[in-house]
Amino acid sequence: MSALHDGAEDRRKVLDATDIVRLIGEHVTLRPKGREYVGLCPFHDDHKPSMCVVPHKHMFHCFSCGSGGNAFDFMMKFHGMEFREALRVLADRAGIELTPWKGGAKPGVEGEGAGVSRDELARANRTAWDFFRAIYRHPEHGAAARALVKRRGMSDEMVERFGVGASPDRWDGLVKVIEGKGLDFAAFAAAGLIKRREQGGGWYDAFRNRLMFPILDQIGRPIAFGGRKLRDEDEPKYLNSPESALFHKGSTLYGIHAAGSAIRESRVCVITEGYTDVIACHQHGFAQVVATLGTAFTHGHVSQVRRLCDRVVLLFDGDTAGEKAAERACEVFFGEGMDVDVAILPAGSDPDDLLKEGEGGARFSEVLGAAEPALEFQIRRVRQRLIDRGVRAGSLAWAQEVEAQVVRFAEMGLSSLSPIRRQTVIKRLASVAGVDPSIVVAAVASVRSRPKDRGGEGERRAAKIVPKTAREHALACLLARPELARDFQRDARDIVEAVAYGSGPLSGIAASVGSFILEHTPSSEGLLATLEDPTQRESVVAMIAEVDRSTEGDAERHIRMWNDCIRRVRTEAASAEDGERGERDSLARVGAALEAFRDRHKELGGNPLARPRVVS
Ligand code: UTP
Ligand code: MN
Repeated sequence: MSALHDGAEDRRKVLDATDIVRLIGEHVTLRPKGREYVGLCPFHDDHKPSMCVVPHKHMFHCFSCGSGGNAFDFMMKFHGMEFREALRVLADRAGIELTPWKGGAKPGVEGEGAGVSRDELARANRTAWDFFRAIYRHPEHGAAARALVKRRGMSDEMVERFGVGASPDRWDGLVKVIEGKGLDFAAFAAAGLIKRREQGGGWYDAFRNRLMFPILDQIGRPIAFGGRKLRDEDEPKYLNSPESALFHKGSTLYGIHAAGSAIRESRVCVITEGYTDVIACHQHGFAQVVATLGTAFTHGHVSQVRRLCDRVVLLFDGDTAGEKAAERACEVFFGEGMDVDVAILPAGSDPDDLLKEGEGGARFSEVLGAAEPALEFQIRRVRQRLIDRGVRAGSLAWAQEVEAQVVRFAEMGLSSLSPIRRQTVIKRLASVAGVDPSIVVAAVASVRSRPKDRGGEGERRAAKIVPKTAREHALACLLARPELARDFQRDARDIVEAVAYGSGPLSGIAASVGSFILEHTPSSEGLLATLEDPTQRESVVAMIAEVDRSTEGDAERHIRMWNDCIRRVRTEAASAEDGERGERDSLARVGAALEAFRDRHKELGGNPLARPRVVS
């Protein structure tokens, strides 16, 4: 076991080289607040900034849902990565070479299931991507793909930025590469890059003779491919990778790697429909454009962009299908607490077509500038339908239709909007529909808001470990400021004694961090790195955040709190030695303290976040 390197060294190195504020800031908008940074927590649905990033402790923590940890935990949670995958991604990002495993058991790996792991899928896609790009440059095998790119007017810079490649016109291009490198076919098959021959065994390439658009995730890794046909007679027009542990079509936005920073800076995201549209937009300087992958909008897409910007412009083709899609998309965004505007292109053209025409850029800007709020778009459509059907404005039939529409809005989550937003929506609804706001309010009241389907991404609350005894509070104090162990050696040694915590979860934490706290120059960041279990890290981060909050990060208050806890630990211990009488006494004291604790908790409204400190 010890002969095998356990990865701890690598983990430490990678964490040291990772600036957690920058890393998280690439995923979520953060604002400085004192020595910390705050932002919307991406791990639960909330419109209030409840996530806090503490750079000097190399940790993040959400006060609302309880998720937290270090840079690995963030990547694992945000991207649904496995530990090994997060380690690799952050190592690549920092330019650190990981120590290769020497066979045997995989060390320090969490959640590595049977079958093909996400990390293996990612590596297969990476190998394929390198191959497709090499083919694209190949004088002969890439000629047809380059010709199409040229015909479409796509610049070399865009080919580079979007990593466009080509698959050769043969059955065994990628298969030969896999064989040549001695790689495992299983991962490539799971990624949908190769398929098993029906007869005679062996494998064949899934993508043949296509222009290859890699679908890159926010950090620029290929998670899937879209292959466009090069020959007219081929079908389908686009062949896409299947869903995998790495690729979920319904929550992936094409171009997000290239658009992310522009979206964050402009606070606006433009969503269109096709691969080539995104590339054309970027080529013409509209860098905040992404696309769905030929699917309808879902809450999964919304949650991708909600943490990057405040406004979304949905861009649709100017045909019936486009307008229908726009209406459906508006429903998805309704109640998301974002400004959603709808822009409709001139009939019969997509962004790519429009941009290629003379003055294309200016005309495209005009289309975006003419975007109207989703709500108005929807009401206008309803109104238009009524007019088309010959219903007279102000008639009874008109009022009934308007009411029916309001009910639909209410069902979509109108009542779950913030009061101010709801008010605005109601006013707009009323004015556009030409009715009195009180009618809208009454209609809304008649509908109970239906819980929204968020595609399984529901709110989750981590099973929190809450320190209760004086000893547990002391441990929390020590975790938040391990430096205490230097000045209070004897007390610290006592507090990290695992057996004193019985069989509870804190005993595991004390055992894991004990020797680290006593032997190393302690710091919270190093301390987190010693914990292998993400649940333990989450608990420790929650305890640290709680202590920091009640001491407001003030060293003196921290030491006072620590001394206080230690004193209580000592008196509890002393009274325990006082025999039966002492036991009765301390029981009475605990009872009284508990009583006071409950009362105080009730006063605070029973909110778990407003938990009072134990009364001594
Ligand atoms: P389009 O047919 O509009 O293609 O489909 P496009 O992106 O504009 O491509 P060009 O300009 O004709 O070359 C829009 C999107 O729908 C998905 C793709 O994501 C595509 O970009 N799609 C389309 C498929 O997944 N499969 C298909 O067969 C067609
Ligand atoms: Mn097109």
